[in-house]
Amino acid sequence: MLDQIREMSVAMKEETIALRRHFHMHPEAAWNEVETTKKVVKTLKDLGCEIVQVGFGGTECGVAADLKGGRPGRCAGLRADMDALPMDEDNDVPYKSIFPGVMHACGHDAHTAMLLSAAKILAEIRPKLSGTVRFLFQPAEESGLKSGAKAMVEEGALEGVDEVAGLHIWAQEPSGTILYRSGPVMAAADGWYLTLKGKGGHGSTPELAIDPTITAANIVLNLQAVVGREVSAKETVVVSTGVVKAGETAFNIIPDTAVMNGTVRSFNPEVQNHVEEAIRRVIAGACQIGRCEYSLDYKRFIPATINDPGVTGEAVKVFGALAGTENVKEMGLIMGSEDFSYFQQKVPGTFFFLGSGNAAKGTDNAHHHPRFNVDEDALPLGAACLEGFAWSRLCGK
Ligand code: NI
Repeated sequence: MLDQIREMSVAMKEETIALRRHFHMHPEAAWNEVETTKKVVKTLKDLGCEIVQVGFGGTECGVAADLKGGRPGRCAGLRADMDALPMDEDNDVPYKSIFPGVMHACGHDAHTAMLLSAAKILAEIRPKLSGTVRFLFQPAEESGLKSGAKAMVEEGALEGVDEVAGLHIWAQEPSGTILYRSGPVMAAADGWYLTLKGKGGHGSTPELAIDPTITAANIVLNLQAVVGREVSAKETVVVSTGVVKAGETAFNIIPDTAVMNGTVRSFNPEVQNHVEEAIRRVIAGACQIGRCEYSLDYKRFIPATINDPGVTGEAVKVFGALAGTENVKEMGLIMGSEDFSYFQQKVPGTFFFLGSGNAAKGTDNAHHHPRFNVDEDALPLGAACLEGFAWSRLCGK
């Protein structure tokens, strides 16, 4: 059956490309995916899917829909994210974004197109399916605190789902490859927002002031000591200070306040807890030393993406059958984040990557680059892997 699935996906290539180009030309940023949602809903309805819910997070964005097979059985979830980024496109292509300031620069247009093609092919083999495929077209993967995946999970989009899979286009690997990883794959993303309050004064008489820049400097340095001295070298964690602002007008003014923001990326929840506690301690201690008052807002944006070993192992067999085992590779950790993690907190799942980098075609620019593009020749393989995952979870081989 996997051979047939691959052939059907290849036969649908032009249709998949046309869909991808449509979404690319009409990008919608996080929580604005209204027209994208409408097109997805119409396509799924035409295929005979039952709509579970349209609109999540108090918006009209996002779809969960079921394709019921000919026989009862398990329920496999397939997820695609649909949002574009708030940026201008710099590609010179006929299907360039027609909306200034919005661009599909992460490949979510391709994700949406591949999952719609997967739905079409699974609908064709529907009588042979034992169980249900739940299609999860997610809004707002790129929106940090208001995550589309989180909203879908909280509103019940995974009710009845046994396992879930999602894929991401990956420009840093060549087209035709599939990348997988068991266990942690993408980092948890936290953010911290700090305001230090000292006492302004004349640069010549610091004894009359409380200088928050000294405290800020202590914090920047001591945060690196948290990573270097408090976390095992066998763990992977990054603490970065992204913003330090204090004073701006004159060389001889000691500023009243300093503002600092930063991020923490980690994989192990115990390390994540420890680093948050240590950051709070470093800030409190530095402020005590420097006589500053402070307010700290520590936010956990996205949890780590952790692939279930059992589901991933079975998926890898499917990928090998579809892509050729020589093209299926284990990947390293990625320090970026992905809110697919919320689905995996609810049900076991696997998040894998589809290589789409091709220097000759100019599709090897980094994700979120204004000239990011996708090698469309890779799309049939991605669609086939989604179909193959669902098939194998419902019907075995
Ligand atoms: Ni992305």
